[in-house]
Amino acid sequence: ADNKIYRASTTAPVNIAVVKYWGKRDVQLNTPTNDSVSVTLSQDDLRTLTTASCSASYPAGDSLVLNGESFDVSGARTQACFRELRARRAAVEAADPSLPKLSTLPLKIVSENNFPTAAGLASSAAGFAALVRAIADLYELPDSPSELSIVARQGSGSACRSLFGGYVAWRAGTKEDGSDSMADLVAPASHWPDMRALILVASAAKKGVSSTSGMQKTVATSGLFKGRLTDVVPRNMALIEEAIKNRDFAQFAEVTMRDSNSFHACCADTYPPIFYMNDTSRAAVRAVESINEQAGKTIAAYTFDAGPNCVVYYLQEHESTILGAFAGVLGGVTGWTANGVGAKPAVQLDE
Ligand code: PMV
Repeated sequence: ADNKIYRASTTAPVNIAVVKYWGKRDVQLNTPTNDSVSVTLSQDDLRTLTTASCSASYPAGDSLVLNGESFDVSGARTQACFRELRARRAAVEAADPSLPKLSTLPLKIVSENNFPTAAGLASSAAGFAALVRAIADLYELPDSPSELSIVARQGSGSACRSLFGGYVAWRAGTKEDGSDSMADLVAPASHWPDMRALILVASAAKKGVSSTSGMQKTVATSGLFKGRLTDVVPRNMALIEEAIKNRDFAQFAEVTMRDSNSFHACCADTYPPIFYMNDTSRAAVRAVESINEQAGKTIAAYTFDAGPNCVVYYLQEHESTILGAFAGVLGGVTGWTANGVGAKPAVQLDE
């Protein structure tokens, strides 16, 4: 038998949504209740590095090691990704019988994040995007990033947006089987290359309420959420795509802040309520407001995901103002860690 080890390595970056995904249409297929848009951060700063390998010499069963610890692969999300990728490889093998039958071999996945896992820093997004791309590369699949985004989506919704750099939309789709719920590129990073993101780590601790259980409770109990779906998100989607197209930072920033506020208001309107932002997060909101007031125009935008950490978007030309303001305003605030990604002043966007 062929005991060769087949191997492929890849990295996938973190993305931070500016119009948020919050709510599942179908929990099994992991399709969303609404469209979303994100900005992909630089691979240099926040990324998952993943190596996928397979071999007949491996013990039976697939395995995954994340940051040096073995991770249970029996979960439905991971299984869905493995199953989909194997099916695609099997189709390639059926078309060309001279190819090795990799689809039948045990998979070994080894993954490293260079940032805290599950701290509201979209670690699952980079993680599942890297897992899917590493296996797709290992299997030499012909699939486009949009086609692979359908697989990554089944691992973690937001992961489908990390298959692209730059400004990325995830279209909720309408089909029952989820086959049109995929990501596409709104604009490459080079379209608006002076965009920057500052990551402020309020807490590197694991988040309290997982996004999956949080969003299901919001969908089931929040009255505000209905208006978010019918009114707020459709408007924000149109405005953010227009702002990106026109490189209109003030519009981009206002939509980003309003959408984050709308998402966290729906969390607070969930019964019982969910609070991801803390006092430190709110200090960051006030700091951004005071930066914009002093500038006399909007030069900074905050956004928060399912955790207390803040991401501030700004343009390179305002970097010294933004960093200076945060050094002064947040210097006396407790709760900000000086290590990890918080120590990186500027996270550059990637192509
Ligand atoms: O992909 P998940 O299940 O980790 O959910 C992510 C949800 C938010 O980060 C809060 C919003 C988003 O669009 O990324």
